[in-house]
Amino acid sequence: MQEIEKATLHICGKKIELPVRTGTEGETAVDISRLRERAGVITLDNGYGNTGSCESTITYIDGDRSILRYRGYPIEQIAAHSDFVETAYLVIYGELPNAAQRVTFSNLLTENSAIHERMVYLFESYPRDAHPMALLSAMVNALACYYPHLATNNHARDIVNFDEAAASLISKVRTITAMAYRMSRGLPIIYPRRKLRYCENFLHMMFSEPYDPYECEPVVGRALNLILLLHADHEQNCSTSTVRMVASSGANLFASAAAGVCALWGPYHGGANQAVIEMLQEIHAEGDDGSRFIAAAKAGKRRLMGFGHRIYKNYDPRAKIIGKSCGELLDHLGVNDPLLDIARKLEATALNDGYFIERKLYPNVDFYSGIMMRAIGIPLNMFTVMFAIGRMPGWVANWREVASNKSRIYRPRQIYTGHAIRDFIPEENRG
Ligand SMILES: CC(C)(COP(=O)(O)OP(=O)(O)OC[C@H]1O[C@@H](n2cnc3c(N)ncnc32)[C@H](O)[C@@H]1OP(=O)(O)O)[C@@H](O)C(=O)NCCC(=O)NCCS
Repeated sequence: MQEIEKATLHICGKKIELPVRTGTEGETAVDISRLRERAGVITLDNGYGNTGSCESTITYIDGDRSILRYRGYPIEQIAAHSDFVETAYLVIYGELPNAAQRVTFSNLLTENSAIHERMVYLFESYPRDAHPMALLSAMVNALACYYPHLATNNHARDIVNFDEAAASLISKVRTITAMAYRMSRGLPIIYPRRKLRYCENFLHMMFSEPYDPYECEPVVGRALNLILLLHADHEQNCSTSTVRMVASSGANLFASAAAGVCALWGPYHGGANQAVIEMLQEIHAEGDDGSRFIAAAKAGKRRLMGFGHRIYKNYDPRAKIIGKSCGELLDHLGVNDPLLDIARKLEATALNDGYFIERKLYPNVDFYSGIMMRAIGIPLNMFTVMFAIGRMPGWVANWREVASNKSRIYRPRQIYTGHAIRDFIPEENRG
């Protein structure tokens, strides 16, 4: 980061000069990292809306201009020309792979696709209706027990085995997800097949039967690749910041990614794709065309799920890409989903409504992704897991930045607003 000028802060009778730094795209930050040391004060930023927690070379977003780039490449070009595995390589290693690098990476994914056979017993000990996100975080963390050489909690050592750990995580997360699905339905486990590509292999493990292999239509494979690559990274969102925070303590890749899964689960983050479908189903079941729901959202009684974003104050570029592909996929498969009609009506109404315009609320990536996943046959309670599979390369890349840069442990401060000092009260004197 380059220093471009100094900002002057007058505080507590002191004059403090603070470096002003800028990134590649001219985004500017006042560096307050030595503020407390020099002035005895901290900054307060509830929800971190104005806090840059790190420097990163992975993803660039300009939410006012609908820009999202992985390693400099616009998301529109990646969506048009790439697939999930190539995008994962780009996000993790910083460059698009040449042919040889691509083959090596794909082979590494294939070699690491199976999970330790004893992990099956872990699945069996969970209730059949356990939420797959709870299972996923537990299983990702458990990888550290089954593959301890990849998870020593010593960053210098873990970085040496990074390629294998990264490929293991990205490949096994798909196997874990499919296994959780099969076991929750009492179906036999289907093992990965070496010849299949990443998305096709996942759909095979989900939907093949021992006597009846699943035939993946190319349009479905492409749709899944698109969904996953659009989620591959999104800079310092809640789950990625969580991954970096856990990593900053020296924790291994699997532990850090498991924490990311937990952070992603909430409905204001990855859980939104499930919440969108539940909202659309509710609107449909009540015979509402969306107008009553919009009125309730404007009155503050409901939230239009899949709308709004902390960073995008303009159209989420991923939503634009996915909204178009969603219609194409459903047309191709001959699926007539009434939820798509409701979603389109909600979008058209909200985009012309003063409440949403004033607050700069636009559809985000979750608004249409769920309708696509439904059409592919993915069950509702697995939507957020699909987001997690897609986000894995971003978490891996962010973990690597922390682990290889010897960054300080993340330790924000707080302003204490509780009781002032008081004397301990013996139990007999308490009210
Ligand atoms: C994503 C989200 C959490 C961002 O939150 P945020 O940046 O903290 O925005 P705020 O909650 O401060 O919202 C600002 C205003 O817009 C309103 N608003 C935000 N999202 C809204 C939504 N989806 N529906 C209706 N109103 C919304 C808030 O009520 C608030 O109104 P006010 O100023 O009158 O109080 C929020 O927009 C949301 O909950 N969206 C739905 C969930 C979702 O789709 N999440 C996926 C994100 S990829």
